[in-house]
Amino acid sequence: MADLATLGLYGLGTMGSALALNILDNGFALHVANRTATVTNEFVEEAGPLAAKLSAHDSLEAMARAMPKPRAIILMVPAGGPVDSAIEELCAILEPGDAIIDAGNTDFHDTRRRTALVEGRGLTFIGMGVSGGEEGARNGPSIMVGGTPAAFEGIRPVIEAISAKFNGEPCADHLGPDGAGHFVKTVHNGIEYADMQMIAEAYGLMRYGQGMTPAAIGAQFEAWDKGALKSYLVEISGIVLQAVDKQTGGPAVDVIVDRAGQKGTGRWTAIEALKLGQSASAIEAAVGARSWSAEKSTRVLGESILKTPLLSVDLAVEDYENALLAARIIAYAQGFRILAAASDEYQWNLDFARIAEIWRAGCIIRSALLDDISAAFRGELPAGQLVFAPAFAERLQAALPALRRVTAAAITGGHPVPAFSAALAWIDSMARGRGTTDLVQAQRDFFGMHGFERIDGPAGCHGPWWD
Ligand code: 6PG
Repeated sequence: MADLATLGLYGLGTMGSALALNILDNGFALHVANRTATVTNEFVEEAGPLAAKLSAHDSLEAMARAMPKPRAIILMVPAGGPVDSAIEELCAILEPGDAIIDAGNTDFHDTRRRTALVEGRGLTFIGMGVSGGEEGARNGPSIMVGGTPAAFEGIRPVIEAISAKFNGEPCADHLGPDGAGHFVKTVHNGIEYADMQMIAEAYGLMRYGQGMTPAAIGAQFEAWDKGALKSYLVEISGIVLQAVDKQTGGPAVDVIVDRAGQKGTGRWTAIEALKLGQSASAIEAAVGARSWSAEKSTRVLGESILKTPLLSVDLAVEDYENALLAARIIAYAQGFRILAAASDEYQWNLDFARIAEIWRAGCIIRSALLDDISAAFRGELPAGQLVFAPAFAERLQAALPALRRVTAAAITGGHPVPAFSAALAWIDSMARGRGTTDLVQAQRDFFGMHGFERIDGPAGCHGPWWD
């Protein structure tokens, strides 16, 4: 795809229409279509003056046939079956030089499979992670592209133009072949889950342990957003906690059922981490916490049967701030470890500094830490571990005591803090040269003759258990 392609976008739901308006706003001509034509008509109206460069079509097929070649068609349809159906339809119409771009939250295994399928038919396939929610899609998301470098060149001008900018630099790039872009987006979401959960844990302890009102906690978040915790998620948490419900006049959070939804990306991150021989404990904990939250009636029953006391806690407000900072660093570090393991496994040659850079604006996990993370990846990084980079090791040494105090107080008081405690358990494991799996190895040898490695050299040894 050497020439700049004609652009088409299929799927005008919330994210699709926002991305389409963004493309038009940046001066590019765009063809659009949707499964139902009424939605397309509504979109044309919504586009107003932007519709000047818009060509609307009744169906995917009509759009693909009407577009001048080479064509690049962005799919903004739900992940899974709808993507396969659209690809099948397009493969029958498109010709070499044309590209299909899946911009949904797709499982990277599907992207790898589809890349082989579509490219096997002489077309180009791009798996593109887009982060930033509706607002980001409309005004500048962070964009993570997977595919061949040549494929990226064909769409680079439009992708860079519509992306968020950090100090004028586009938060979009080609990250690697086939599934690399979707994998990086999946891990982004895993980190998003962990960060959201840890913020919620701090809120829970401040509210139910420390007796603070949602508004007071929200004001605290607002203040933290001006310091080391500066980030989109802390910012919106501050706004949300200070919001008032119009019907009750009470805190808006109090009218929300505490049952979290999840579409799969957090779970995929945890699963892929395990498959790659890792354990992203903070991310796993966040996924688990959402699943437990969904068991609302069981929890209500548990409260009446188990009757565990919920004790008050008395911590300095700075402890919560530092606990969140330490835990956030750990969540990012775990995310980058998964990226490193996948990069090795799939030979993607991911550039971690670049990934941190394109997460600095537009995406949901954007935070002040990411600029420092990219600098750390460009500098001295012992064993490739973010938490060992001098700037982060120092921050952790300063902030970990607060994470311990917060976690210990929560555990003693009966307040669940799964992500905080999982983050702490990981960093404490990484901070000990000798742990306790000598005993696990001995047990394995005892019951299964699995053998162990002796500290003085030889492997495959057995203990004196049966002598
Ligand atoms: C983003 C978000 C976005 C979406 C997730 C949330 O980066 O813009 O992550 O992709 O909000 O799908 O997923 P859950 O529904 O699983 O929380």
